[in-house]
Amino acid sequence: MKVIGTEASQVLASRIADELGTAVVDVKFSRFPDGELYVCAGGLDEEMVIVGSIVDSDSLVQLLLLIDSCENSHNRLIIPYMGYARQDKRFKAGEPVSARAVALAVSRGAAACITVNIHDKKVNSYFGIPSTDVSLAPDIGTHIKKMDLDDPLILAPDDGATVFAETVAAVGNWDCDHLDKTRISGDEVRMAHKNLSAAKRSVVIVDDIISTGGTIATAAALLASQGARDVHAACVHGVFTNGAYARLKAAGIREVVCSDTIERGCSQYSAALRIAGALGR
Ligand code: R5P
Repeated sequence: MKVIGTEASQVLASRIADELGTAVVDVKFSRFPDGELYVCAGGLDEEMVIVGSIVDSDSLVQLLLLIDSCENSHNRLIIPYMGYARQDKRFKAGEPVSARAVALAVSRGAAACITVNIHDKKVNSYFGIPSTDVSLAPDIGTHIKKMDLDDPLILAPDDGATVFAETVAAVGNWDCDHLDKTRISGDEVRMAHKNLSAAKRSVVIVDDIISTGGTIATAAALLASQGARDVHAACVHGVFTNGAYARLKAAGIREVVCSDTIERGCSQYSAALRIAGALGR
C-alpha cells in the first residue's frame, strides 16, 4: 500500500503514510501552457490511498486526475475537507445538488471513501461507493488538554454543534454549553444566551468549520461582554475565507486552531491518526 495526495493535502497525505508505516508517492504537479492542470505520479502500488481535500476547483481537478492515474490499483479515497458539501440539497429550482455532483465525480475509480466531519452525513450517501465519516472532536479535546487551561468551558456556537462540543468536553470532563445562533446573512449571525456563566472563565468555542468567522466572532463578543477571562476557538476545517483568521484575532480571540484537513499556519493538530485508524491500521 502507498499513499498519494493532491498539492492541497501533501502534508496530511505524508502524515497518513507515516501512521500507516508506508510510503507517500512523489507527484509532479504543473500546468499546460493554456492553464490546464497536469499531474504525473511516481511509483504506484497495487493498493493506493488517495488523499485530497476539495478546497477549490483546482484541488478537485487534481484529485480527479490522481484517481485516474491510479486506475490500475485498488483505491481508497480520503476527502479530509469536502468543499461543495454545504450545497447538499436543491434549495431552489435550477440549483444543482453540488455535494452529490462532486461525490459522484470522485467515486469513479475508488472502492471506498472516508470523509472527515462532513457538513451532513447524508452527503456520504451521495457517493456511489461505501462512504463513512470520521470525527475529530476527540482530537480537539486532546489538543485542548495540551493548552493547559484552568477548568475551561467548552461552548458550541449553535444547537447543531452541541453533540460535537459534548464529545470534545468528554475528553477532559469539562463543562459544556451551547449558544443559540440565528444567521442573518452569509457572514453575519445573531447570538443569544446560554445556561452556564462564562464570567472569569476560559472558554473554548468549538465548531466543525470556521468559514467567514462570523459565528465565532459574534460568540466571542457575547462572551467578552459576560466577563469571560479568555476566549479560544478550535475547529476541524479552517476555511478562513475573506480574512477570517485576522477577523477572529481582531475580535480578541486568544488562539484559533484548526486541523490539517485544510493545511494552514494554525493547523495545530492532525487528522492523520484518526484516518489511519479508519483505514484499519
Ligand atoms: C454551520 O453549520 C457550521 O457548523 C459553522 O458554524 C459555520 O459553517 C461557520 O460559518 P462562519 O464561520 O461563516 O460563521
